[in-house]
Amino acid sequence: MTGTTTKENFKIQILQGIPKELPVKKTYPENTNRAPKRRDILSLEEKKLAIRNALRYFPTDWHETLSKEFSEELNTLGRIYMYRFKPNYPLHARPIDAYPANTAQAASIMIMIQNNLDPMVAQHPEELITYGGNGAVFQNWAQYIITMQYLAIMTAEQTLHIYSGHPMGLFPSSKDAPRVVVTNGMMVPNYSKQDDWEKYNALGVTQYGQMTAGSYMYIGPQGIVHGTTITILNAFRKILKSEECAKGKIFLTSGLGGMSGAQPKAGNIAGCITICVEVNKAAAEKRYQQGWVNELLEDLDQLTKRAKQAKERNETVSLAFIGNIIEVWEKFDQENIFIHLGSDQTSLHNPWSGGYYPAGLTFEESNHLMRTKPAEFKQKVQASLRRQVSAINRHTAKGTYFFDYGNAFLLEASRAGADIMTGNGKDFRYPSYVQDILGPMCFDYGFGPFRWVCTSGDPSDLQKSDDIALGIMEEMLVTAPSEIRQQMQDNIKWIKEAESNNLVVGSQARILYADAEGRTKIAEAFNEAIKSGEITAPIVLGRDHHDVGGTDSPFRETSNIYDGSRFTADMAIQNVIGDSFRCATWVSIHNGGGVGWGEVINGGFGLVLDGTNDASRRLKSLLFYDVNNGISRRSWARNKEAMYAIRREMARTPQLKVTLPNIVEDDLLENLFK
Ligand SMILES: NC(=O)c1ccc[n+]([C@@H]2O[C@H](COP(=O)([O-])OP(=O)(O)OC[C@H]3O[C@@H](n4cnc5c(N)ncnc54)[C@H](O)[C@@H]3O)[C@@H](O)[C@H]2O)c1
Repeated sequence: MTGTTTKENFKIQILQGIPKELPVKKTYPENTNRAPKRRDILSLEEKKLAIRNALRYFPTDWHETLSKEFSEELNTLGRIYMYRFKPNYPLHARPIDAYPANTAQAASIMIMIQNNLDPMVAQHPEELITYGGNGAVFQNWAQYIITMQYLAIMTAEQTLHIYSGHPMGLFPSSKDAPRVVVTNGMMVPNYSKQDDWEKYNALGVTQYGQMTAGSYMYIGPQGIVHGTTITILNAFRKILKSEECAKGKIFLTSGLGGMSGAQPKAGNIAGCITICVEVNKAAAEKRYQQGWVNELLEDLDQLTKRAKQAKERNETVSLAFIGNIIEVWEKFDQENIFIHLGSDQTSLHNPWSGGYYPAGLTFEESNHLMRTKPAEFKQKVQASLRRQVSAINRHTAKGTYFFDYGNAFLLEASRAGADIMTGNGKDFRYPSYVQDILGPMCFDYGFGPFRWVCTSGDPSDLQKSDDIALGIMEEMLVTAPSEIRQQMQDNIKWIKEAESNNLVVGSQARILYADAEGRTKIAEAFNEAIKSGEITAPIVLGRDHHDVGGTDSPFRETSNIYDGSRFTADMAIQNVIGDSFRCATWVSIHNGGGVGWGEVINGGFGLVLDGTNDASRRLKSLLFYDVNNGISRRSWARNKEAMYAIRREMARTPQLKVTLPNIVEDDLLENLFK
């Protein structure tokens, strides 16, 4: 097929939606990273309901064939993915003009969806999982096909409503309304336990969207490399003297998976010795082959020797060790190897289905046990968590700084009965990275993971956008107050080195941390550059949900909220509603993501800049609210950095009037209730 007909064929396939003829049954591709078999949780009656639910996407004369196929998928994989309907064209972000669409907004969303399913980007592309083991873009291929068709035919006055991957339909709206509204995993609160996800996902009525998977905003590993670099840099700043640097200092952690795999690369940028322990040999080897980690070791004695040597030589290096993280915490304690920074990035948001591998079993033995004897597996996970915490406690007694990296480590360890609580029995011994690092240093000042994607797919557009962003950041630095200078300097360095660090995987995307003023100025300059033709096609703006105001998550994003409101989710809901009438191109709100089902409500947006005056109006209103909603809540919670930031914003923006807290003297409370 020639290039032109391939392109035309792609458009025809998108426009037809569910094919007219039943496609040929597919054989599963070899050597792809397949999602693990999910728990067989449905009763016989519920399995029938799951099949009935799946078949409603298809004409009745296909039902007999498909019912057998779908029941086989359900029995062998625990879910119905509808592999037969996976399109034959390759899935990746194409240049915007490759898409059949009536608006640049709809075509941009199609780019973002396809990028999230690109095998170069997605963790389990066959099962429509982008990252985190269960972060789904859609539940099945029928939902993908129908969504793409709706986007292709929608006008600028329609909105597509997506319920946990299911495209409910196109509804009349207006030009300023979002083109797409996404909800993922929204449950009636009493039905938000881990087993509820397993059950209702198997029934095909909900999904786990993680944060940026189910909102089409994942941009490959770059986002997480940046966030991890900022975290490690600032963690070292907390514990080192101003004249010291990270060289020759050990950062011990675990996981070389989807996001955790960024740790060694980020550690190298921060300049330390990163030791990253991974139980899955294939995952460790993949990161090694990709050049994301410098050395791969399999023998614990060799690792010990190499760690001592790297310390002596004051090296910056990353070492991957294939084994269980518990072994390394224990061995380094016995060998008295001092660890400056410690953390953990096993997938404890998903502890019973492969997120955390207990000590004493091989990877394969664990996989078998979790399927065949889930109760026994759970006991082993909990015993291992107790053991891991005990080893960590011995290190922290010697001076190691340990922090939870947003994977529910402290939460699950506490549930396992590990010695992880302080004397009051209520607080954890260790902070989360948001409590100590990202919260006070970034989020409370409004700095968060702003990102953009060049829809031309042209690297030179990305280069131009980098230059524009750099110019603006440098200009802002000249007058920036001391409180935020460090953040700006880190991000200027990041954007200067971004191209040479070769971080693009999938779409032409960039991330940097900026506050509301920075985000707005950069976005305005992009819009002008698109208008003038300097940048050749629209740019999609967005952010990670892991940000200043999009996420209520008591053990992560809002773990540094101390007025009791961290278990509420008003901020995330206000944010998604506020962003939506401030003309986001799409909005999303999710249950689950990072820390687990029922543990977080998180939301985000996408905004397409097309060089028009409308785009300029939208970006100012949206970006301002999106960040300042979060700062105002953080300020109301009496976070001093946020109180400073919101006062500064009110001085800049007379129309902003935020309720400020009055601070109560401690002495006053001391004498009450005696
Ligand atoms: N706060 C953040 O910004 C942030 C960033 C990244 C990741 N996270 C969280 O970190 C976790 C990891 O994310 P991911 O995408 O890398 O998940 P992942 O499942 O792809 O990777 C986790 C890895 O840990 C390994 N592992 C599990 N138990 C182990 C053990 N006992 N010893 C050694 N290795 C073990 C697994 O084999 C797996 O490869 C998730 O819970 C995620 O939500 C948070």
